[in-house]
Amino acid sequence: MSLNGDGGRVELQECIRNPGFRDAAADATGSGSGSGSGSGRDSAAVKLDAEPAYETYTQLKPYAGMPKEVLLLYSSRARYRVPREVLFWLTVCCTLALLAVTVTIIALSPRCLSWWQVSPVYQVYPRSFHDSDGDGVGDLRGITEKLDYFQLLNIKSVWISPFYRSPMKDFGYDVEDFRDIDPLFGTMKDFEELLTEMHNKGLKLIMDFIPNHTSDNHRWFNLSRTRDPQYADYYVWTDCNETHPKPNNWVSIFGNSSWTYDEVRGQCYLHQFLKEQPDLNLRNPRVRKEIIDLIHFWLEKGVDGFRMDAVKHMLEATHLRDEPQVDPDKPPELVTTEWDLYHDYTTSQVGLHDLLREFRAEMDIYSREPDKYRFMVTESYDYHEVDKTMMYYGTPLIKESDFPFNFYLLDLPHNTSGTWAKHLVDLWMTNMPRGKWPNWVVGNHDRSRIASSAGQIYVKAINMMLLTLPGTPTTYYGEELGMENINVTESQIQDPAGKYNASASRDPERSPMQWNSGMNAGFNNKTNITWLPLHPDYETVNVEVQEGDEGSVLSQYRFLNGLRQSELPFQRGWFCYVFADANVFSYLRELDGHKQAYLMVINFGKESVTTDLSSVQELPNQLKVLKSTNPVNNGKVFQKSQIPTEPGEGLMIQYSTYTRFHPNHPAECYVSEKACYLDTIDILYKC
Ligand code: GLC
Ligand code: MG
Repeated sequence: MSLNGDGGRVELQECIRNPGFRDAAADATGSGSGSGSGSGRDSAAVKLDAEPAYETYTQLKPYAGMPKEVLLLYSSRARYRVPREVLFWLTVCCTLALLAVTVTIIALSPRCLSWWQVSPVYQVYPRSFHDSDGDGVGDLRGITEKLDYFQLLNIKSVWISPFYRSPMKDFGYDVEDFRDIDPLFGTMKDFEELLTEMHNKGLKLIMDFIPNHTSDNHRWFNLSRTRDPQYADYYVWTDCNETHPKPNNWVSIFGNSSWTYDEVRGQCYLHQFLKEQPDLNLRNPRVRKEIIDLIHFWLEKGVDGFRMDAVKHMLEATHLRDEPQVDPDKPPELVTTEWDLYHDYTTSQVGLHDLLREFRAEMDIYSREPDKYRFMVTESYDYHEVDKTMMYYGTPLIKESDFPFNFYLLDLPHNTSGTWAKHLVDLWMTNMPRGKWPNWVVGNHDRSRIASSAGQIYVKAINMMLLTLPGTPTTYYGEELGMENINVTESQIQDPAGKYNASASRDPERSPMQWNSGMNAGFNNKTNITWLPLHPDYETVNVEVQEGDEGSVLSQYRFLNGLRQSELPFQRGWFCYVFADANVFSYLRELDGHKQAYLMVINFGKESVTTDLSSVQELPNQLKVLKSTNPVNNGKVFQKSQIPTEPGEGLMIQYSTYTRFHPNHPAECYVSEKACYLDTIDILYKC
């Protein structure tokens, strides 16, 4: 005990002691050392009358309550003070360590995948999915009744083709009122119920959004043709000759001139699609404002994203010059289809991406809350001009769509072979900007069903590839069953494109969804009508039958989609080409630090072959099939020098090794965002 008598303070090391206090130990020994030395003096720390306090203390019973002075006395003893200090510094150290670990984890954690990356996008064509009221046409309630089906498939993202109020000249892609639901599909209440139910089940709803055109029944068009000052420039108008209304050689996607004379206004208006789908003048700021208001309207309602329709057509050159002919010698009067011209002035005009970026920025306002990310996918067929498509990904600094649809796999049937499949996949992978997220489409409401164009024997192989490539797959309703095109006779044609040119009809791929073997395949059960005929194979190709069959297209789809979402190498791993020849396309998925890797060997050819992968040192010698499109091969073990496949057979081989393929073959491998896996604690980190 060090004494410092100055100013009446008695210091017990660093503590200040009450001068009027005698401690119990001192009492017991009778030594009053120090305790009395300050009695009667003022203490700056504790003011007490020494004697009465002394009396009180001696009467204290153990645990009867400890005045501050006593506490101070005891607490300053080494046996209390040291542990206290140790605990204090331990707490400080632990807090700092925790902070450091948290910061490190945040810094090292790769970004979480968003909902549109985790699940495939499933496209519902609402006319054909499920008809709840039995009028022969599918509707919103019909979709609500089938939400469990998406859960069965492990699908989270559902894109529904248009259900706005529409005269249905292009089955909803001709919108009369963007803020209303067509009575054929239901009411706004039905929509709200559908959205609420979807959200309750953890599903996301992606709406079709059509910024390029409206219906000619739209209020804006009626006001524009009467030259209402506010609306006069809402569409693309030009003077033309009433009897020969062709101000230039531009043609509609559905054929013939893209100009139609309007008697009310006495001018021609532009329509890149049907004459009942006049193109909006998106150079007019008022029109852009209208579009943005619509985006707000639906986002406020809670929709989770938009599929932006026909975006490359949004702007046209204002000079209206003729487009160059593909065959300059063709007589101009024979220039009637989109394939006859280079679309230098009607598609992909300067300013287009600024428009989409503006839309994207509006969507981002609604994306800030957790799990409320609003997704945008753009539709643009740019065919061999892949650079044009890639522009829709935006730049590292300015966001645009999350991805533009990748339509290249639609060309798979042109030449079913391993090298062709690899070529089509590579077209996307080599051209996609670094760090972006790929996606794959094998069918939609505008293109023949893949089962029909490629052939039924390739259906499982194509689905296997779709679900194991990196990025987001898109599944058009029925592809998970291997549904095929229907035959539509000339008199049955519904599609306007088919009325212009029967071979261009899109009806064959729009037939009613095949739910079961009952009446109308379960599409509806109240009447015997369906807006398009059913495919005659519905008694065997339907959800109910396939659900009960482990070897079915549906069961394989469910299995692979489940695996795709649970296995990190599929979500976050490297994608590497291993091999391709006239028959087989082989690639692998692996993740650094993750023991399980997957080798895919898919035969898109016409011959049964044995593939020799013995030169691929990174693969183990024995390879066990986890899943074959042909269930009899599940579980078989092959030597890597002899991997047999039949035409249309795909093998998913799971193998265990920490040896990675990508470091030795960097030119053959891609990853959107690099991540590594730490097995011991089951976490992913940036590497
Ligand atoms: C898109 C749609 C197609 C429609 C066209 C006009 O290409 O997918 O079905 O006819 O736009 O809106
Ligand atoms: Mg346009």
